[in-house]
Amino acid sequence: MTKEIVCVVGARPNFMKMAPILQGLSAHPELRAYLVHTGQHYDEEMSRVFFGELNLPKPDRDLEVGSDSHALQTARIMTRFDEVLEERKPRMVLVVGDVNSTLACSLVAAKRGIEVAHVEAGLRSRDRSMPEEINRLVTDAVTDLFFATSPDAIENLVAEGVPRSKVHLVGNPMIDTLRLHLPAARARRAAAKFGLEEGNYALVTLHRPSNVDQPDLLHRIVRALEALSVRIPVIFPVHPRTRGRIADVGVPSSPALQFVDPLGYVEFLSLQASARLVLTDSGGVQEETTALGVPCLTHRANTERPITNSEGTNRLLGTDTAAIIPAAFEVLDGGAVPPRCPALWDGHAGGRIAAVLHAHLSPG
Ligand code: UD1
Ligand code: UDP
Repeated sequence: MTKEIVCVVGARPNFMKMAPILQGLSAHPELRAYLVHTGQHYDEEMSRVFFGELNLPKPDRDLEVGSDSHALQTARIMTRFDEVLEERKPRMVLVVGDVNSTLACSLVAAKRGIEVAHVEAGLRSRDRSMPEEINRLVTDAVTDLFFATSPDAIENLVAEGVPRSKVHLVGNPMIDTLRLHLPAARARRAAAKFGLEEGNYALVTLHRPSNVDQPDLLHRIVRALEALSVRIPVIFPVHPRTRGRIADVGVPSSPALQFVDPLGYVEFLSLQASARLVLTDSGGVQEETTALGVPCLTHRANTERPITNSEGTNRLLGTDTAAIIPAAFEVLDGGAVPPRCPALWDGHAGGRIAAVLHAHLSPG
C-alpha cells in the first residue's frame, strides 16, 4: 500500500532542501510525496523562480498565507494546514529547516498524532532572541524522526533527551542541490552581467532582524560596505525584509556598491562560487560557502552551524560593525583557503533521507 508523506515548504531556503528529498523519494514507489507550499514567501524571486530552476513539482496545495506578524502567520498556517491533514490523513509530515512554516506544520501534525520527520534537526544557536531558535526547539520537541546534517546536531538532541536511535546523520540536502547545479552556475558567469570580474568582488546578503531591523545598526553596516567597496567591488542582492530598511538608510547604488533584487538560485550560486569573499547572516549561505571553499564572514553573535567554522570557511564576526573592515581586509590580504567540507556533504543526502523514510514506513 502506498504511504503518503506530506512535505512542507514555505520560505526561500526550504526549496533547496526539499528538491533532493523529493528526488530521493521518487525512487521508492511505496512512498508518495504530497507537496504543500504554505505561501510564507510568495514573490516571484523568493518562491516561484526556484520551482523552475530546481525542478520542483508544482505544489499539490498552496496555503497562500502571505506575510504577517509571527503569531498571525503561524496561526494561519496552522489552521489551513490542519484542513490538509484532515483531508489527506497522511502517514507522516516532513518539514525542513527552522522557519515559521516548519514550526506551524510540525505542531499541527503532532496534535493530530501524525508522525513528524524534521530535516536539519538539532541545530542550536542557543540564542532565544532569534525567532528561528524558538522554531527549532519547538519543532524538535514534537519530532519523531530526526535528520541531522552534522554531528554537533546529534549531540544537541541527545543532550535534550532524544534517544540516539531516532536520529539519523544523513548529510546536507542543501549541498546536494549545490553540487547538482554548480556546473550550470559556473557556466552562467553571472559576475559579468553585473560588471564584476570573477574572483574580485565581495558578495553580501543580510536579512536577520538582529542586523536589519535596527536602523542605526543597518546604517553602520552600509557605511562599512561603502568603505569596503573602495577596495573591492561589492554586490548585495537585497532580501525583501531588508529592502525597505535599506531605502530608509538612503544609499545610492554606485558601480562599486550595487544593491540588486534577490537573485534566482543558479545566478546567486554563480556569484557565490566566484566571489573573493562573502559577508552574510544567512544560515544556508554559511553552509554553501563552506562547500564552495569561499571565505565567509558571518555578521552575527552566534551560529547554529558551528561546523562551518570548525570544518569550513566561515568566521563569526560578532555584531560590532567595526569588525567588518579588518576581517574583510585580512581575507583580501590572505592566500587561498584550502577547501574542506564536512563529512556526508557529498550530494547524496536526499537519497539517504528517502532510504531512512522507506525503512521506517515500510519495514521489512
Ligand atoms: C524568513 C524566516 C527566516 C529565513 C528567511 C529566509 C521565519 C521566522 N523567518 O524570514 O528564518 O532565514 O525567511 O529568507 O520564518 N516579504 C516579501 N515577499 C515575500 C516574502 C516576504 O516582500 O515573498 C517581506 C514582507 O514584508 C515580510 C518580510 O519580507 O513582512 C519578512 O518576511 P517573513 O517571511 O516574515 O520573514 P523573513 O525575514 O523573510
Ligand atoms: N539565495 C538565492 N538568491 C539570493 C540569495 C540567496 O537563491 O538572492 C539562496 C542561497 O543560495 C541559499 C538560500 O537562498 O540556497 C538561503 O536562503 P536565505 O538566506 O533566505 O535563508 P536562511 O538560509 O538564512 O534561512
